[in-house]
Amino acid sequence: MKKIAVLTSGGDAPGMNAAIRAVVRKSIYHGLEIYGIKRGYLGMINREIRQLQLGSVADTIHRGGTILHTARCPEFLKPEGQEKAFTFLREQQIDGLVIIGGDGSFRGAKVLEEAGFHTVGVPGTIDNDIPFSEYSIGFDTAVSTVTDAINKVRDTATSHERIYVIEVMGRNSGFIALQAGLAGGAESIIVPEAPFDLAEVCSRLMRGAKRGKLHSVILVAEGAASAISVGEEIQKLLQMEVRVTILGHLQRGGTPTAFDRVLASRLGAKAIDLLLEGKRGCAVGLWKGEIKATPYEEIFTHSKEFPWDDYRTAAILAI
Ligand code: ADP
Ligand code: F6P
Repeated sequence: MKKIAVLTSGGDAPGMNAAIRAVVRKSIYHGLEIYGIKRGYLGMINREIRQLQLGSVADTIHRGGTILHTARCPEFLKPEGQEKAFTFLREQQIDGLVIIGGDGSFRGAKVLEEAGFHTVGVPGTIDNDIPFSEYSIGFDTAVSTVTDAINKVRDTATSHERIYVIEVMGRNSGFIALQAGLAGGAESIIVPEAPFDLAEVCSRLMRGAKRGKLHSVILVAEGAASAISVGEEIQKLLQMEVRVTILGHLQRGGTPTAFDRVLASRLGAKAIDLLLEGKRGCAVGLWKGEIKATPYEEIFTHSKEFPWDDYRTAAILAI
């Protein structure tokens, strides 16, 4: 192992810069040459690479986004695009790659593995939907951002005595909705993992109204329903004033929390250890308190377990 490349791919996540920093500094510590590929798999196809030095990652640990930029790259799904990437990596004599991203990025890493390249994945996605890692980089920050938004919305909801429906990201998973809903004391949390019944949500609101509670916050994960249709339906059923807030991409930005920075530093450093030990075709993750590696195949054949106990607790506490 002499030449290693790092890239960020798919949706960005706060803490990706801390992971890049760890990969760069750990590589240099071990006497490796470390290169940054820009815009994920697109950068392999478009040949965008530069050597990184200790100073290249200075002043980045606290910054959201990714200094290497990221992209979704449909061209890499096709054999022609993949061939271009393989040719480029062979020409550059890259011995190992650290791929920071989500499930899709890991599938791309597997394609590289099958073509003979050594890769290690680092889970970076606000969705937290990667199995065998209790947390992915960016999730904790996104949850804090959503919790802060709930606090603010609750202020105006209380003043105006209205029902607010807030839509959060997460793609097909409800981890952000559940965690932020618990933290923000949401009255109802709607996630794709659980069937939901708007009549039940409404009777919960009515029970609150009978006690004199005229404001509520309902959190909807984007993968479960659209907040707009949930809001319209509730307004129709209850004849009460409803407002809808879609938080959107602000959930992907901002300075990473200390937790995300520490996690990213540990995962990035471990990725280099693994490549140096000759391990490959796996992703690192935080598992039972330790940084562990799991083969891609295991990751692709499992779904991340939903924390049902937390889900039930949230429902009980919001009674
Ligand atoms: P994330 O990594 O956040 O899940 P995406 O699903 O958009 O984000 O994946 C990022 C990129 O990974 C895609 O744009 C594509 O270039 C690559 N990718 C995704 N799935 C595959 C696949 N099955 N085979 C090869 N490359 C893939
Ligand atoms: O995977 C991260 C994520 O933010 C999802 O929560 C969301 O569904 C998606 O990316 C949005 O993607 P884009 O930024 O391409 O619109």
